[in-house]
Amino acid sequence: MLNTAAVNSTALKFQFKTFEKLPVKIWEDSKEASIHVARSIALAIRQKQQDGEKIVLGLATGSSPIKVYQELVRLHEEEELSFHNVVTFNLDEYYPMKQEASQSYWSFMHEHLFDHVDVPKENIHIPDGNIPMEKVQSYCDWYEKQIDLNGGIEIQILGIGRTGHIGFNEPGSWESSTTRMVRLDNLTRRDAVKDFLFEENVPTRAITMGIASIMKARTIYLLAWGQHKAPIMYEAVEGPITLSIPSSFLQKHKNVRVVLDRAASEKLTRATAPWLCGMCNWTDDLACQAVVWVSQRTGKPILKLTNEDYNEHGLSELMLEENGAYDLNIKIFNRLQHTITGWPGGKAKADDTTRPERATPAKKRCIIFSPHPDDDVISMGGTLMRLVDQGHEVHVAYQTSGNIAVHDHDARRFAEFMKEFGEGQGLMTEASKKKYDTIIHFFEKKKKDEPDIPEVRAIKGLIRRGEARAGAKFSGVKEEHIHFLDMPFYETGRVRKGELSEADINVVAQLIEKIEPHQVYAAGDLADPHDTHRVCLNAIFEAFERLKDQMWARDCWLWLYRGAWHEFPIHEIDMAVPMSPDQVLRKQKAIFMHQSQKDRAPFPGEDEREFWQRARERNKATAETYRQLGLAEYEAMEAFARWKFDWQP
Ligand code: F6R
Repeated sequence: MLNTAAVNSTALKFQFKTFEKLPVKIWEDSKEASIHVARSIALAIRQKQQDGEKIVLGLATGSSPIKVYQELVRLHEEEELSFHNVVTFNLDEYYPMKQEASQSYWSFMHEHLFDHVDVPKENIHIPDGNIPMEKVQSYCDWYEKQIDLNGGIEIQILGIGRTGHIGFNEPGSWESSTTRMVRLDNLTRRDAVKDFLFEENVPTRAITMGIASIMKARTIYLLAWGQHKAPIMYEAVEGPITLSIPSSFLQKHKNVRVVLDRAASEKLTRATAPWLCGMCNWTDDLACQAVVWVSQRTGKPILKLTNEDYNEHGLSELMLEENGAYDLNIKIFNRLQHTITGWPGGKAKADDTTRPERATPAKKRCIIFSPHPDDDVISMGGTLMRLVDQGHEVHVAYQTSGNIAVHDHDARRFAEFMKEFGEGQGLMTEASKKKYDTIIHFFEKKKKDEPDIPEVRAIKGLIRRGEARAGAKFSGVKEEHIHFLDMPFYETGRVRKGELSEADINVVAQLIEKIEPHQVYAAGDLADPHDTHRVCLNAIFEAFERLKDQMWARDCWLWLYRGAWHEFPIHEIDMAVPMSPDQVLRKQKAIFMHQSQKDRAPFPGEDEREFWQRARERNKATAETYRQLGLAEYEAMEAFARWKFDWQP
C-alpha cells in the first residue's frame, strides 16, 4: 500500500556500505530540493558580495533547474538578494538558433531568470547559436577563454539527459573536450520535441561547453527529477567511468553534489536492495521486495527459496527476523496470492479479509480518471470492463482534451468533411462558411512549429472526445457516466503545459463530490516533472484534501494504475486483475477506438510500438512475473496500488 509515509520512508537503519561513487542527497520532491540548492547559491553570492568580489555561475536550461531559478527570483524579489556581482555562463545553445526564437536557451534563461533579477546584461554569457559556421570554432575558443578570464566557474548547475549527457556532451564525448559544436543524440532530440512540436524541427547540432570546461568548476550540482531519470542516475552514480555515459566523468571531480527527488533515486542500490548497504527496518513491504528480488535473481519460484539463497544474497539478517526461509516464503507467497482478484470492485457476500477490495457495498460507484482520452482503456481496460460487467456504477472522467496528439491531416479531413456536409445539406450560413475557410486556410499556411488556432484545437479535441466516448461505450460505460473535464492547464496549444491551477482542481473536486464514489482509479505516475499524468494526479490529491471532511470520503479507496510505460514493482502491487485471452482481445478493441492514435501518433515517446501493443506486452509481462514467482499462470494482468490518505481509517 502506498501512502505519504510509505513513499517517504527510508529502509536503511544503519548504512555500512555504499555503491555510490558520487555524494547523493535525496529529497522528497523537486521543489524542496531546488529551494535548498537555490539557497546555497544565494549564500555564496552574498558571501562574495561581503568580500566585494564577483561570483561566476555556470547555468543550465531544461526542466531540471527551473525551480531553482524560481526560488532565486523569489529571493531577489522578497529577500533582497542582489545579482549585481554575478557573472553567468550558460552551458549550451542549439545550433542554428536565433536568440529571439521561443525555443532558444537565450529565451529560456531570460524568461526564467534574467528578466526578473539584476544580473548586469554584460555579465550574461550564453553560447550564440547564430554564429556563421566558419566562425564557430574561434567563437568557442573565445567563450572558453572568457570563463577563465572571469576566474573560472564557482558553482555549476547541471541537468542530465537520458543519454547521460551533461551540457550537450553526448556519449562518446572526450574527457578533455572544451566548448565546441556537437551533434545531438537522437534520444536527446526526441526529448526536445516538447519545445519544437515536431521532431524534424529539433536542431541536429548545438554549441556546448565541454566535459573539461565543466570539470573546472569548483562546485557542481547535478540535478535530476522523476522516474524517467532513474536508470541514467544509476549509471552515472554507481556505474564505471565511461565515454558512453559522459556524466560518469563527474566521479573524478572533488566537489560534486548530486541532488535527486525520490523518483529519480529509485534505481540506486540503496532503493532496490537496501539490505546490501546496511541494516534495515524490516517492514512487510521490504521483506516482500527482498523475497521477490532473490526469487528473480536465482530464477527460482518463491516457495523453492532456501535459507542459503537468502544468506548468499546478503539477507541473513532477514532470515533471523523471519524465522527462516520456510515461514518467510509462505508469508510472502500468500501476500502476493491475495493481491490477485477477478473482482476489482469487491466480491459480494464473500469473506473479504484477504481480498484487495471490500465486499460491501455490493454495488459500488467508481470513477476512473483518465489523464488523456485513452489512458483508461490502455492502462486498465480489462478492469474497467469487469467493473461494468459486475454491475458497478462506472464513471469515466477524461481529464484533458488530448488535442495536441492529433495530426493536422486528421483534423483537416474533419474540417473539410463538415464543410462539404454542410454545403451538401444546405446547412451553411455565411458565417459558418467563413469559419471553415479560415480553418482550412490555416492548415494550408501553417508553419512547422506554429501553435494551433483555437478552432483547430477544438476540432482536435472533439476527435479525441469521439474516440474516448466510443472506447468507453464499447467497454459498457453508460453515456451519462462519461465526463470530459478539459482541465485548463493542458490548453496551451503546445506540448509544454501550464501549471496546475484552482480551476483544474475545482473541476476534479466537483465531479468527485457529485458522485461520492466508493472507488477512484487514477494514473499514479508519481513525481514526473512536466508530465500531464503527474499534474492530473496532483489535482486529484488536492481535490481529496478539500473533500476529506465529507463522510463518504473516509471510505473512498483510491487505486493507482501506472499510466505511462512502466508497471509497479511487484512488492508495490495491492491488486492484480487477471485477464483471459478473450478479455485481452476485448481490451485491444477498446484501444482500437482511438484511431487518431494509431500508426504513430504525434507524441508517442521513444517507444516505437503502438499503444495496444505496449498495453498487451506490459500486461503479459506482469502475468509472467507472477508466474515466475510461482503463482498461477494467467494470460495477462493489470496491476494497481492502493493509495491510503493519512486521514483515512
Ligand atoms: C541544458 C543542458 C542539458 C539538460 C539535460 C536535462 O542546458 O545542457 O544537459 O540539462 O538535457 O534536461 P531536463 O532538465 O529538461 O531533463
